[in-house]
Amino acid sequence: MSRGLILGIESSCDETAASVVERGARTLSSVVASQIATHARYGGVVPELASREHLRAIVPVVRAALAEAHITLADLDAIAVTAGPGLAGALLVGITYAKALAFAQGLPLIAVNHLEGHIHAVLLQEREGAKGVAAVLETQILRLASLAQDDRVFGLGSTGSGTETEEAALALVVSGGHTHLYLARPTRGTWHYTLIGRTLDDAAGEAYDKVAKLLGLGYPGGPWIDALARFGDPLAVPFAFSQIKTKLHLAGKAPRTKAAKTAPIANLDPHFLFSFSGIKTAVLRYVELHGLREEAKARVAPMLALARPPQTKEEALALCPQLTLDLIASFQHAVVGDLMKKTFAAAESLSARRILVTGGVAANRELRTRFTAEAARRGVRVAFPTPALSTDNAAMIAAAAWPRFQAGEFADSALSADPALALGT
Ligand code: KG4
Ligand code: ZN
Repeated sequence: MSRGLILGIESSCDETAASVVERGARTLSSVVASQIATHARYGGVVPELASREHLRAIVPVVRAALAEAHITLADLDAIAVTAGPGLAGALLVGITYAKALAFAQGLPLIAVNHLEGHIHAVLLQEREGAKGVAAVLETQILRLASLAQDDRVFGLGSTGSGTETEEAALALVVSGGHTHLYLARPTRGTWHYTLIGRTLDDAAGEAYDKVAKLLGLGYPGGPWIDALARFGDPLAVPFAFSQIKTKLHLAGKAPRTKAAKTAPIANLDPHFLFSFSGIKTAVLRYVELHGLREEAKARVAPMLALARPPQTKEEALALCPQLTLDLIASFQHAVVGDLMKKTFAAAESLSARRILVTGGVAANRELRTRFTAEAARRGVRVAFPTPALSTDNAAMIAAAAWPRFQAGEFADSALSADPALALGT
């Protein structure tokens, strides 16, 4: 009898990942080879380097995922792969490999939207229950001999049973490439998505990364800002987000977004639109006005030698003056406040009783604390993936593929990368 085993492959940005998930509910293995060390010195992902690194990592990562799950290719029921959105060259590595494996094994191939994957990271975790979460938290770091020394490879194994009833939810996907609000609805096991809001320019994670770069902090910026913000005054700098006027935006040229093929902005309620390019400029202005440019530049070299963000106030002050810590805390407070305001307003207007927050920025501590408190105040439920499942991984791709597998929604051999693949309607 089929065990419902799906091998998920993810290579849309700067992580090469493979995972085996049973019936969309039980993670047998999840391996992630991160390219952070490769891109850190450039302060952002370099697409050509990403493709090269995926090519190097894809075979050992898939092998490790199968080995960790104690299965062989012959045990699989399907292969799922991220088809977009993402970097074209990076996506192609995963797609080509998945296609070749599926063809050689005579297995169905399932194309998954990366954003749908992020939503299923939370659903997978809910299905796995407490046992799964505990195992995920015990993420162990593996090193694959065939990868460069500085590449980090995470492996995690977990067990659990699916008990969670599936119900509609408002999902905030907030990462380095996306800030999107979707209404996710299950109908007879298949999920449907309606775009409710999105960013007009930068993604929230992109703002974290750009502000971190500006302040001479490490890459990616999110974890550094998250750690340092705890030691600053969040109300020191009153950053403000003004209400977006759709018509004004539409009067100019088309908005610059990475996932441009989503529904027209004119169809969306402007109260649920985001814009994070302004706060980046406001931080830059503050830095220049307060003469913080030089001290930020002086931090770049010592930062590269630091293995982890500061954990204590002393460590934080050794890295940044109080003025910079206050700026960092204020930036984060404003971004999280804006994400919260619009997400809860959308939930209220849609009468959604359940909110899922997912994507790399969902790992943020202040975001989790404030969303949790606000949800409790309003009597709605909020769920986040564990930090390991928040950032890019392949367990979420294999989990999102399960309903498609059951519905027989398979990709054909013409499947190609779609860098601007849209999700839902
Ligand atoms: O989901 P992800 O791994 O990749 C994309 O699909 O983009 O998200 C990466 C993003 C980066 O911008 C990173 O700075 C941000 O997530 N991030 C965080 C945290 N951890 C990662 N942002 C805020 N706080 C964090 N703890
Ligand atoms: Zn992602």
